[in-house]
Amino acid sequence: MSQLNITHVVVISLTAVFLLVAMDRAGQLRGPQPTYVPPAKPAPLAAVDPEKGKPPPHNDTVEDMPAGKGREVTFYTCTACHGVALIKAQGLTRDLWDSSIDLMIEKHRMPPVKPAERAEILDYLAEQFPPRRRGRNTDNPFLK
Ligand code: HEC
Repeated sequence: MSQLNITHVVVISLTAVFLLVAMDRAGQLRGPQPTYVPPAKPAPLAAVDPEKGKPPPHNDTVEDMPAGKGREVTFYTCTACHGVALIKAQGLTRDLWDSSIDLMIEKHRMPPVKPAERAEILDYLAEQFPPRRRGRNTDNPFLK
């Protein structure tokens, strides 16, 4: 009568464990693993696409600027990047408006304008938004 002694039990158990570990490491005990899918390349920004052009970051129209000669060219040259409020808030001499355009071109990468257009824009800006004679503080009734 053959007898299953403790040694057999240990040997059989260890063999089973060894086999299970080997199969597990070979991946046979697990289902299909998710495969790594690299993220899709982001589409180029519409703003960068020269074909599509960049929508301005405001809803201003030409009518938001005071009527006057050169309003159209000023509006279309100056509101590609910001609204008219930024311009209206400024009051400058023609010379300083000129420097302001230089600043837009040098610092903010505004495309250069043709000299004739630039002159028309400057005339308009100097006429409509001159330096204010009275500063904000002198308009303050509490400071009188
Ligand atoms: C290519 C983009 C671009 C164009 C076109 C542009 N600007 Fe600007 N402008 C900017 C940026 C950017 C600022 C800074 C905005 C801010 O601080 O929010 C600015 C600011 C200003 C300011 C605020 C004061 C200052 O000096 O920072 C004024 C005034 C101004 N622009 C006037 C103009 C005028 C006038 C034109 C047309 C001749 C013009 N901009 C065209 C980009 C532009």
